[in-house]
Amino acid sequence: MRIGPLELSSNLFLSPLAGYTNLPMRETVRELGGLGWATTDLINARSLLERHPAALQLAATSPVDRPLAIQLFGSVPEEMRDAAVLCQELGVQSVDINMGCPVRKVVKIGGGSAMMTELARTAALVRGMVDAVKIPVTAKMRLGWDDDNLTAPDLVRVLEEVGVAAIFVHGRTRAQGFSGTVNLPGIRRVVAAARRIPVIGNGDVTTPEAARHMIAETGCAGVSIGRGAFYDPWIFRRTEQYLRTGVLTPEPGFTERVRVLRNHFERYLAFYGEATGARLFRRVGPWYAKRFGPAKSFRRRLPTITSRADFEAALAEYLAWRAPFCDDQGELLPKFQPAPLVASFMRAEGDGDAERSAIPVPKGPVERW
Ligand SMILES: Cc1cc2nc3c(=O)[nH]c(=O)nc-3n(C[C@H](O)[C@H](O)[C@H](O)COP(=O)(O)O)c2cc1C
Repeated sequence: MRIGPLELSSNLFLSPLAGYTNLPMRETVRELGGLGWATTDLINARSLLERHPAALQLAATSPVDRPLAIQLFGSVPEEMRDAAVLCQELGVQSVDINMGCPVRKVVKIGGGSAMMTELARTAALVRGMVDAVKIPVTAKMRLGWDDDNLTAPDLVRVLEEVGVAAIFVHGRTRAQGFSGTVNLPGIRRVVAAARRIPVIGNGDVTTPEAARHMIAETGCAGVSIGRGAFYDPWIFRRTEQYLRTGVLTPEPGFTERVRVLRNHFERYLAFYGEATGARLFRRVGPWYAKRFGPAKSFRRRLPTITSRADFEAALAEYLAWRAPFCDDQGELLPKFQPAPLVASFMRAEGDGDAERSAIPVPKGPVERW
């Protein structure tokens, strides 16, 4: 598939997840394969223009972190335009506009999902950005503000007119937050509204089968995965293979999970420095540990780590504790396999709603993304 002039290696996208989809995570996921495109966490356009260190850190990238879009939020046309130009100067491949964020501090200033309520104003702002840069400009939205205002199809038509290169749509409304399940007919209506540009579907995709189901039900050109990548950074590789060949490859084993956990941790340290990196990793490590089988003591220990030595000691202790229950590949012997919490969560489409709703939304101000 293509976005503007760019040919992608797959039609799978990593959704922006503020606080998680930083350079260390993007590099970790990309290394595992299957990912066609990634986007930064949302960045305040004004902060970026002011070269605020936190904004520049969110925009940080590397030669392997390609293709990359910077996601901007804001509502002042001149700021959004100038920030888009700055993104182009920073060398990224695309700029994405956040039109889906329901968080009060973003909506209050007319950004995020508030942009879905004022089509003419939004169109003028976006035109200013598109006209100012050579790189493609994309938009990420929800289905609308609430069930009575499903404006996404109208917005898509307007955005296509002003030159947007692709649309990402999370199949829920702003009012819905993360409740209920993703509305595939709603995404289908957005797909139907676009005349030429690709629409990428998003929401609740946690398995290769769910990705295929979304494509089949909506006709979307690609699938963007957010929370599913917390649980399963390998999801892009397995999904890409499944969509291409119909073959579902096995999930990674324990040794591979530990290897990638450690790589992800080391990237945090390299990027943020040891003390900050270890502290920030406290909320990432437990996602890996959820898939280890019995790991209660390790999961409890992760949120206290302060250094590499601490992390390695916690891991070594856990591996030593686990060894008697494992075969020589490090896999749990069948009699020690836990009740399939993860297996049921990962169960394929169809009866998957209950399991999918089990993907927690991390606590904090982004609870209602
Ligand atoms: C913790 C968290 C942070 C998020 N941050 C962003 C963000 O910065 N920009 C954005 O457009 N969407 C953000 N989202 C929404 C996701 O990109 C995505 O649309 C949503 O989670 C649905 O996809 P999923 O079910 O695959 O997670 C965030 C979601 C979560 C849970």
